[in-house]
Parts: sequence; structure tokens; C-alpha cells
Amino acid sequence: MARIAIVGVGAIGGVVAALLQSAGRHEIVLCTRRPLAELVVETPDGPVRIDAAVVTSPGDAPVVDWVMVATKAYDVAGAAKWLEGLRAPGAPVAVLQNGVEHRERFAPYVPFESILPVIVDCPAERKSPTRIVQRGGMSLKVPSGALGSAFVDLFAGTAADAAVVPDFTTVAWRKLCHNAAGVLPALLLQPGGVLRDEAIGDVALQIVSECVAVGRAEGAQLDDAVPEAVLKAYRASPPDSINSLHADRLAGRPMEIDARNGVIVRLGKKHGVPTPDNSMAVALLEAMVRATQ
Ligand SMILES: NC(=O)c1ccc[n+]([C@@H]2O[C@H](COP(=O)([O-])OP(=O)(O)OC[C@H]3O[C@@H](n4cnc5c(N)ncnc54)[C@H](OP(=O)(O)O)[C@@H]3O)[C@@H](O)[C@H]2O)c1
Repeated sequence: MARIAIVGVGAIGGVVAALLQSAGRHEIVLCTRRPLAELVVETPDGPVRIDAAVVTSPGDAPVVDWVMVATKAYDVAGAAKWLEGLRAPGAPVAVLQNGVEHRERFAPYVPFESILPVIVDCPAERKSPTRIVQRGGMSLKVPSGALGSAFVDLFAGTAADAAVVPDFTTVAWRKLCHNAAGVLPALLLQPGGVLRDEAIGDVALQIVSECVAVGRAEGAQLDDAVPEAVLKAYRASPPDSINSLHADRLAGRPMEIDARNGVIVRLGKKHGVPTPDNSMAVALLEAMVRATQ
């Protein structure tokens, strides 16, 4: 049994709550900014009503053995306000977010060795604050080591595909390669099918090639076939799909542009790897957002 707090009860936090509840042996605390009268997760196996304590203020947070942060990457400072009250001495913080800088984001708030980066794959959407739809299985990949193994154990007996991976850097960068190309639909305000266009597809290949080059400089094992594989995957997806960057832009929310493309530019500069297409995408998207504020 573990006491587990989930900070950020959106699509991913909600699915994680449903999975941990299905283990039948954990005490779950939901940390939200607003009161949550109920939470129902429509899983592929049917609806799950979450039976957990809800706290809306860091001052009321109980002490727990694990914290799972599932806010967007741009909400780290707000999420961090929960950590001091929640964490039992030495309690780990699992960061379930996109990107490759999970540890760096939380290093100002938590000892480096207590931060566990998690790469999440799971098609899920928050339809309302109380209703989450999970459209497929959840895969959770963590670095090998004692913390990673303990995290995987929390999900034993659940439907989650939770596993330690020997080369986490490569797993994280491979996911980033996919996410990097998602900037194009967000820029164009067109669903994912826009990558079927030949010229847009060529730009996507460039964006992903830059990500591959920077990822390699960071130690990821990414072969030359990755850009074509990413483009093929986009073209095989339903043409009306809306990625989360695009959805955030449509909703007027902040976007994970820095975690998805800005990071390629920043780390490219560090390694002397040119990233003109990602630089342009970030600059254009940021300028467009500023123009509408
Ligand atoms: N959704 C997917 O299919 C998917 C798949 C793979 C990876 N991811 C990644 O997983 C991460 C989470 O994404 P998501 O889709 O679950 O996002 P989401 O649905 O937008 O949920 C984020 C949640 O964080 C909450 N939050 C923000 N600041 C908070 C704070 N200070 N205290 C408490 N709660 C706070 C938000 O609450 P409010 O309601 O108050 O705004 C919201 O409920 C992102 O990095 C995303 O890229 C998502």
C-alpha cells in the first residue's frame, strides 16, 4: 500500500488515478485548483468513478509516499507549490509530462535523485473537469533503477503498461521527435491531416531531422529513418485529429511550445547543432499568440 498524491487531475492525472485505484491497495489524494464534486474516467474497460480524497489548497495537503505530477509542462511553478507539504521525507516525485527536461524542470524544488521522469503514451482527453475519456491503453516508461522499479510496482496488477527502460534518453527523444512535428498543425490551425500535404510534410521532416540531430548530441540513439517514420505515423492518423498544442492554442491556454520545440532550439545552441526550422516555428507561434493577446 502506498499513499499517492496526484497533482494535476486532467486527462493523464485522471487516467493514472483510475489505474492506481484498480490496483486496490493504494490511498489516493487528488490535488486540484478547484473543488471536484466527482471524477469519472471512461476507460476502454468501462467507466470508473474515482473514490479519493480531494484537496484544493497546498496548505491542506496530507503527507504522502509518492507524488505524481501530471500538469502541463508550463504549470510546473504552480505544481511545485504542492510539493513541500505533500512529500514525506525523501518521497519521490514522478513527473508525467512531455519533453526531455523532466528533472531540470523540478530540480529547483526537489532533490535531483528524488525526481523520476516518466514518458507517457496514452490517448486521453478531459471532456470536462469531472469527465475524462481514455481512448487506448496507457504506457508509462521510466529509467531503470530503484526509483523506476518502485514506480512500476505501484501499477502491478493494473491495465497500465508500466516498465523500466535501460535507455530512457532515447525513449524520451523518440517521443519528442513525434511531438516536435505537431507544431505545424498548431501553427496552421489545421488538424493533423495537414501533414499529408507534400510541402508541409517536407517541413515536418526538417523539424524532426533537427530533433534527431540534437537528440543524438544529447546521447539518444536515433537512426536516420526516424523523420520518415514520424511523418508516416502522422499521415496514418485520422486526418481530423487535434494535438494538445493545437487544442491549447484554440482554447487560448498557454502551450507546451518550449517543452516540445523550444528545447530543441536551446539544446541545439548548446551543442552547436543548427535548428532553423524549429527556431522559426517557435518564433512564429509565439508571435501569433502575442498578436492575439
Ligand atoms: N492527454 C494526452 O493524451 C497526453 C498523452 C501523453 C502525454 N501527455 C502529457 O501529459 C501532461 C499532462 O497533460 P494532460 O493532457 O493531462 O493535461 P490537462 O488535461 O490539461 O491536465 C492538466 C491538469 O493540471 C491541472 N493543474 C495545472 N496547474 C495546477 C496546479 N497548480 N495545481 C493543481 N492542478 C493544476 C489543471 O487544472 P485546471 O483544471 O485548474 O486547469 C489540469 O486539470 C502534459 O505534459 C502532456 O503533454 C498528454
